[in-house]
Amino acid sequence: MQLASFSLVQITSIAMSVRIILIEALYSIYVLLQILVYPLLVVFAIVEVLKRWFRRLGCSRMPSLCGEVALITGSGRGLGRETAIALAKLGCHLAIVDIQEHLANDTAQFIAENYEVNTRAYKVDVRDYQQLLDLRERVTNDLGDVTILVNNAAIITMSSIDDPPVHEIQRMININFTAPVLTTKVFLPKMRELNRGYVVNISSLASMYPHHTFNVYGASKAAVRHLTSALRTELLEAKSAVKAITICPSFLTTNRRVNDVVKALKLNRILADLDGEVVAQYIVEAILRGETEITVPHCFIWLRRIVATLPAAATERLMAFIGGLVDPKCRENELAQALRTDDGVPFDS
Ligand SMILES: NC(=O)c1ccc[n+]([C@@H]2O[C@H](COP(=O)([O-])OP(=O)(O)OC[C@H]3O[C@@H](n4cnc5c(N)ncnc54)[C@H](O)[C@@H]3O)[C@@H](O)[C@H]2O)c1
Ligand SMILES: *[C@@H]1O[C@H](CO)[C@@H](O)[C@H](O)[C@H]1NC(C)=O
Ligand SMILES: *[C@@H]1O[C@H](CO)[C@@H](O)[C@H](O)[C@H]1NC(C)=O
Ligand SMILES: *[C@@H]1O[C@H](CO)[C@@H](O)[C@H](O)[C@H]1NC(C)=O
Repeated sequence: MQLASFSLVQITSIAMSVRIILIEALYSIYVLLQILVYPLLVVFAIVEVLKRWFRRLGCSRMPSLCGEVALITGSGRGLGRETAIALAKLGCHLAIVDIQEHLANDTAQFIAENYEVNTRAYKVDVRDYQQLLDLRERVTNDLGDVTILVNNAAIITMSSIDDPPVHEIQRMININFTAPVLTTKVFLPKMRELNRGYVVNISSLASMYPHHTFNVYGASKAAVRHLTSALRTELLEAKSAVKAITICPSFLTTNRRVNDVVKALKLNRILADLDGEVVAQYIVEAILRGETEITVPHCFIWLRRIVATLPAAATERLMAFIGGLVDPKCRENELAQALRTDDGVPFDS
């Protein structure tokens, strides 16, 4: 209590204040330099946006994906399965990877019956580095070198929304974040050697908006987005033709749990039906058009750009306000119930 009556100046020595002023002054020079080159950055950004619109209008030549080997994690069901089917339509051979073998078999069988491409199902836990090394070996023998990798496998398990137990936190981080790191480590080197290929990392809109209901989820998806962006700078520096693409979808209707949550929050009244088929189309188009980072729907990227110009305090106040509109009772009951249902993915030891 007594401390509170001291002013800041009294508890900070003059020397320390001077040091801080000098540090701020020095670094302000760098900020000033960035402001000076800002007009150039804006011109660059406009050129990039025009190029992208040009591509979206279908004015530029699209690459053919016919004959490429695509590996999709978590393609037993949901978005992964639909993405596999969309790529099969374009003539890609498919490695269907899922921890749930019967689902993987089912997708592979469906593709084999309906499309003229080679396809195999693989039961793999994408958290396990050794299994991924074996997978690379088997897929290369069965289908050829993988030139399209889609990191889609992810889980949702939270027995408590705001305070998930440690083992669940670790399990989610392992599948949603560590797995894409490992698959990239296993499959990217060959693509770089061939100087050809695409890695698609599925992030989420939740990676762009801070809110405690997606605590670890949002953070793991933000990490995926950030690392994919960092990897792109590496590929650009190395003048590699390999493309790394981030997809950030809004709520999908693919996952039963997410559906239940959306219903519990009554969000289904205001959201459009984003099923796996339509999001898979966004993914395939992003590959064909050479996109880097897209949101589904595309226009939501502008929400993020506008929010990004605000100070963190303002964004957080906005998110807390929106969160506060949600009925707290339904969060406790229906929402928790929806999140608790089993996702069929076994726990690791
Ligand atoms: N559902 C949404 O609202 C939503 C929103 C934004 C982003 N996404 C992202 O989209 C992607 C697909 O979501 P979905 O709704 O189709 O999911 P889903 O749960 O329907 O399917 C995920 C698949 O991954 C498999 N899988 C889980 N753990 C695995 C492991 N360790 N090894 C191998 N396979 C494993 C599961 O067996 C399942 O078949 C995810 O990356 C998700 O984070 C989803
Ligand atoms: C999946 O297919 C493989 C190979 O055809 C078979 O050996 C395996 O038993 C199948 N698994 C399930 C769960 O259907
Ligand atoms: C992992 O991804 C799923 C699917 O989008 C999500 O629902 C879940 O909350 C995520 N978990 C973590 C810890 O990121
Ligand atoms: C995909 O995401 C993972 C995890 O964030 C990251 O380590 C990896 O480099 C990404 N892959 C690509 C090709 O960007």
